[in-house]
Amino acid sequence: MLKCSRPDKKELIKLDKQQIIKQLVPTKMSPISGTATAFAPANIALCKYWGKRDPILNLPHNSSLSISLGRKGVLTHISQHSSDEVILNQQPVPLDHPFAQRLLAFLRLIRPVPDLGLRIETSANIPIAAGVASSACGFAALVKALDQFFQWQLDDKSLSILARLGSGSACRSLWQGFVEWHCGTAKDGMDSYAQPLSAIWGDLRVGLLIISTQPKPISSSVAMQQTVNSSLFYPSWLTKVQQDLIKIKQAIQAQDFLQLGAAAESNALAMHALMQTTEPPVYYSLPATVNAMHTVWQARQEGLPLFFTQDAGPNIKLLFLAKDQASVCELFPTVDVINPFEDIN
Ligand code: PMV
Repeated sequence: MLKCSRPDKKELIKLDKQQIIKQLVPTKMSPISGTATAFAPANIALCKYWGKRDPILNLPHNSSLSISLGRKGVLTHISQHSSDEVILNQQPVPLDHPFAQRLLAFLRLIRPVPDLGLRIETSANIPIAAGVASSACGFAALVKALDQFFQWQLDDKSLSILARLGSGSACRSLWQGFVEWHCGTAKDGMDSYAQPLSAIWGDLRVGLLIISTQPKPISSSVAMQQTVNSSLFYPSWLTKVQQDLIKIKQAIQAQDFLQLGAAAESNALAMHALMQTTEPPVYYSLPATVNAMHTVWQARQEGLPLFFTQDAGPNIKLLFLAKDQASVCELFPTVDVINPFEDIN
């Protein structure tokens, strides 16, 4: 019998991403720089991305909007090496570890010379895989560093698309400040990329409340697909997120903090409620997460303009204004306060 030589699923995934990469990255090799270093900030979505219309190319069903976290993020250094080496926070990572595997799978697709060994050193000042957007800034920093290393000189849109192929929300981590990811409609995803907003909101603060640094029990990619495939409420989420995006953009433009905080908190709660309606349910909160929410609601009732958001993990990100920093720190003594616009003039 004639054997069918259909490529297996993994091969198809590789080909699909590779076709897009081929359109963006020069195939002709320029002389490489000796080394390259790039930083990308973590980003926290105020209006969340949840659900992919194409899980291979990381194409979302909905547009989203984030705020970057200033100096919190990932610094990536690339140099040539005899064979591939992955270093995370000064420690070598075994190449069969999921962290290295994900990074190397991306490198295999993107590097113009397949047998060019690279040493990738990543330093993160945020917890890894705990819902603090470490993969987003990791892939954004990697793409920026590769662009420098191979001297591609890609434009921002191409960098954003490449970062998205590594991890969806990475397309927003190329900039500081507010960033919008346009979901796009094209099948190849060439219209699905992020752009920074020009707004600067100097007294906006984000408080990172780390409740657990343990890796999340289920990856956001798996949880998203579970949601899209099994939740009856997914269409309602898409309606809500469109409304929230409008409210959040209006609030940013008007610097209306109460509107921003209320819309962002409601959006996060809706996303987590949606996750609970999937089969099997997804639940990222720990008891301390819920306690923190009650503390925020109580404080708000007592007059403190304080809101929160939460991503695919138990950690809470507080939203408040600089004038209320002392009160917030009193309520949450371990909070790490970030001024997102510190380095932007
Ligand atoms: O890009 P991913 O696969 O890490 O998913 C991000 C999902 C959320 O953080 C929950 C929402 C978002 O828009 O960042």
